[in-house]
Amino acid sequence: MSEFVPDGETKNLRVIAERIRARRTTKLFLKREVSRELILDAIELARWAPNHHLTEPWRFYLLGKKKVADCIAIIGTLIRETRNDDELAAFKEQSAKEIPGWLLVTCKKSAKKLTQQEDYASCCCAIQNLTLYLSEAGVAAKWTTGRITRDQRLFDLLGIDSAEEFVVGLIWYGYPKTLPTQSRRDVSEILVETD
Ligand SMILES: Cc1cc2nc3c(=O)[nH]c(=O)nc-3n(C[C@H](O)[C@H](O)[C@H](O)COP(=O)(O)O)c2cc1C
Repeated sequence: MSEFVPDGETKNLRVIAERIRARRTTKLFLKREVSRELILDAIELARWAPNHHLTEPWRFYLLGKKKVADCIAIIGTLIRETRNDDELAAFKEQSAKEIPGWLLVTCKKSAKKLTQQEDYASCCCAIQNLTLYLSEAGVAAKWTTGRITRDQRLFDLLGIDSAEEFVVGLIWYGYPKTLPTQSRRDVSEILVETD
């Protein structure tokens, strides 16, 4: 058993706090591959998320170059269909081509509303585990729930049964060109303490 430390003054606590604060959503990535081993390690860690009844509802789809190219085509098609804008479609396709890593995270559907809610929560925790681990390795990510994540063509492409699974997020990852800054409201605005 490790010794209980009652306050936030240990080195490890400062390290973990700093990692949680420093992880940033990033849209622009360097042209540098992220090793498959690192992503597999991050997925291994992701599934240690809290999970009621240990349903392990997550599935991770690590996309290879062929499927990434197909996803980019779907993104372009979606923009042409919904906005009828060729220029925007070409721009989005080009931006997508510059994303080094594509990881789709899905959650198993459940007929029970509470189970579904709890399973989704676990999947979100898993993604946070994954992105924190990557962040510590210098790899940034963007969790996206863009239109493609709900499009049947994506499910067909990856052989996912949409009656069985839904997408929690498409995680784009890579070494960041820049890291944006972010802020949060003061804790006093979000904390209610009771007697
Ligand atoms: C469930 C979920 C869905 C998100 N979907 C998108 C998205 O579709 N597009 C996007 O630009 N960012 C998306 N984000 C990222 C948020 O915009 C980002 O987390 C927020 O701006 C805070 O920045 P930070 O992650 O650097 O703290 C999503 C985040 C979550 C948790």
